[in-house]
Amino acid sequence: MKVLVLFDLSRPVQPNETFTPEVLRDKEDRPTEVDVITCLKKLGHEVDMLAVYEGVSDIVDKIRSFAPDVVFNLCESFFNDRAKEPNIPALLELMRVRYTGANPEALMLSKDKALAKTILVYHHIRVPRFVLSRRTCPLRRLRQFLFPAFVKPLGEESSDGIAKASFARNEEEAIERARFIHERLSCDAMIEEYIEGRELYVSVLGDRRLTVFPPRELFFGRMPESEPRFATFKAKWDDAYRANWGIHNGPAAPFNDGIEKKVSNLARRVYNLLKIQSLGRIDLRLTPAGELVFIEANPNPSLAQEDDFAQSAAAAGMSYESLIQRLLDSAQCS
Ligand SMILES: Nc1ncnc2c1ncn2[C@@H]1O[C@H](COP(=O)(O)OP(=O)(O)O)[C@@H](O)[C@H]1O
Ligand SMILES: [Mg+2]
Repeated sequence: MKVLVLFDLSRPVQPNETFTPEVLRDKEDRPTEVDVITCLKKLGHEVDMLAVYEGVSDIVDKIRSFAPDVVFNLCESFFNDRAKEPNIPALLELMRVRYTGANPEALMLSKDKALAKTILVYHHIRVPRFVLSRRTCPLRRLRQFLFPAFVKPLGEESSDGIAKASFARNEEEAIERARFIHERLSCDAMIEEYIEGRELYVSVLGDRRLTVFPPRELFFGRMPESEPRFATFKAKWDDAYRANWGIHNGPAAPFNDGIEKKVSNLARRVYNLLKIQSLGRIDLRLTPAGELVFIEANPNPSLAQEDDFAQSAAAAGMSYESLIQRLLDSAQCS
């Protein structure tokens, strides 16, 4: 197949700038792009790539000139704006080119974390109770809110804006963190009920017939159990910090009877309700009382080989090559 790999840059692309796997690995620190491109070549496909910053016409021109059978879409932003992520597959649909990964609808539903939760609540799925603090009209009081709370940016991903101070013991701390999110990240804030518990990542693959892979878990290692434990930016991305505290991702620890089935049923329901097709990673928390609570759905989860999605697939016996080929084969075109 002729495959065009589209990926986003957070800065303008220089004229004649080329992105070999070596450049992507050593200079740009893009493990997903490196792994996907290397794998596509290994599978014998003809691969070209395009770095996307702001040029719509660059995308259109490239698709016209290269005429790919499939676009492998790894774009998570446009013009450095994550809110524009759904517009990339939307453009590909208008161009009637087949593309891998999430459709615009799933991205729009899941990325609006408040809307996604509202839909799930309607279907009786347990989500953290929440209120919104709008940047243009910040909340001043939190009447009747049961603390502790968890305060996070409404439109960010990858634990951006998530730090120890996201955990708020009282109204004052929650309002202060929301103010910080409005000012520093220029976005709305979600003030949620804090859910204590194990953190589970459930990878789902497929269109109508779904495969739910064995869950993964974020282990908090030697972080004190007396303190709230959650995936801060550092806990997710800072290798030295992770090593220091023994924080790691791995196959989920054993569950009490019946829980694993509930985990996979819940992931499947969320996937369908949020109209995810192709692939998705559903993040849940399992409370000490054995309750499963939805945290977030990721319709285009990271596809780096060492990350949770590919690792879950591997645990179910699906090699990285088979996974990437599966995504190509199921690439959609409306
Ligand atoms: N309501 C909550 N209660 C407890 N922890 C939470 C809650 N919401 C988020 N977290 C923690 O913060 C992390 C990041 O939150 P998430 O909503 O997944 O945002 P992101 O899109 O940045 O990944 C989660 O993986 C979890 O560890
Ligand atoms: Mg998340």
